Amino acid sequence: MKIAILPGDGIGTEIVAEAVKVLNVLDLSFETETALVGGAAYEAHGHPLPESTLNLAKAADAVLFGAVGDWKYDKLERALRPEQAILGLRKNLGLFANFRPAICYEQLTHASSLKPELVAGLDILIIRELTGDIYFGQPRGRRTAVDGLFPGAEEAFDTMRYSRPEVERIAHVAFQAARRRNKRVTSVDKANVLETFQFWKDIMIEVGQQYPDVALDHMYVDNAAMQLVKAPKKFDVVVTGNMFGDILSDEAAMLTGSIGMLPSASLNDRNQGLYEPSHGSAPDIAGQGVANPLATILSVAMMLRYSLNQTEAADRIESAVSAVLSAGLRTGDIWSEGTKRVGTREMGDAVVAALVAQT
Ligand code: NAI
Ligand code: MG
Repeated sequence: MKIAILPGDGIGTEIVAEAVKVLNVLDLSFETETALVGGAAYEAHGHPLPESTLNLAKAADAVLFGAVGDWKYDKLERALRPEQAILGLRKNLGLFANFRPAICYEQLTHASSLKPELVAGLDILIIRELTGDIYFGQPRGRRTAVDGLFPGAEEAFDTMRYSRPEVERIAHVAFQAARRRNKRVTSVDKANVLETFQFWKDIMIEVGQQYPDVALDHMYVDNAAMQLVKAPKKFDVVVTGNMFGDILSDEAAMLTGSIGMLPSASLNDRNQGLYEPSHGSAPDIAGQGVANPLATILSVAMMLRYSLNQTEAADRIESAVSAVLSAGLRTGDIWSEGTKRVGTREMGDAVVAALVAQT
């Protein structure tokens, strides 16, 4: 097993350092290799995703990614900006399934903007399709309208499209993920208005017949947005397209209180994956040693579960994180009265200590 470690910029280097400590204490047999990505790679090599970094990622079973970006690169041409590294990795590794769990730890229920009873014990998984939909569909552009409400006016257009194989493969990913959980999938669409999503829904039903043990239901995206804040615990696995998933996964993230707690995974059809916290490089707190490393540490757990077949080690990390929260340790983003404020390194050390205490 080979893991590529790409810390990136800002708090990326600080939080990945803690995640690497956690990986090392598990004493599994794998090789790791670290490389520059994002702004750090731009500074050293003039490109956010150098050939050497991309090749390392391609050759690895999994990539542990920190975060990239900084305001200071905003003036660069688009192709050289740090964020392009993520898009380049997604594209070159063929990552099409984005997993964003929204888990609300009992110890943090007060941090949610929803009432504690609505989120206590929340554990849902949003699966977003990453390669298709209106974000990438051609044609797109600007032109002079020849029809519509205002012929002759300037207009802009994008195209929503999904091909059968694209929908089939994300459907299989969702049903298989549900099998490892509570065997329920909610497919979110807008089939009442959009042909693309009627097609999506039809294929979900078809593929679902291969998984008779998994219950499938369907929800329109507007209702799903509502239900996520009304009764989020009703969901288990939610699968949806690129745009709806972009929006709903951020909405779901906020149910849990802090973005500093949320891991993510992006997988291809070989279960090779890129694992990263859901947040960015947080330039406002970078270099201060105060960032929450738990989203990255929990991303390591996802990596072990989904790409490296080490379910037991993944469970151990998750219970170590829970133990540390139960002991009252908090970084600034999740701190509240009566808990102990710690820095990035102390939090990482505490998770390592909790892992050691398990054995
Ligand atoms: P952000 O996620 O970096 O920060 C948003 C807010 O959350 C900030 O106040 C930050 O201090 C806080 N925060 C984020 N992670 C935290 C953690 N682990 N612990 C404690 N507090 C945390 O998003 P923002 O500010 O919109 O973007 C900053 C930079 O990151 C930009 O250059 C952006 O393009 C980039 N970015 C990169 C991503 C990636 O690498 N995948 C994803 C999102 C943004
Ligand atoms: Mg987004």
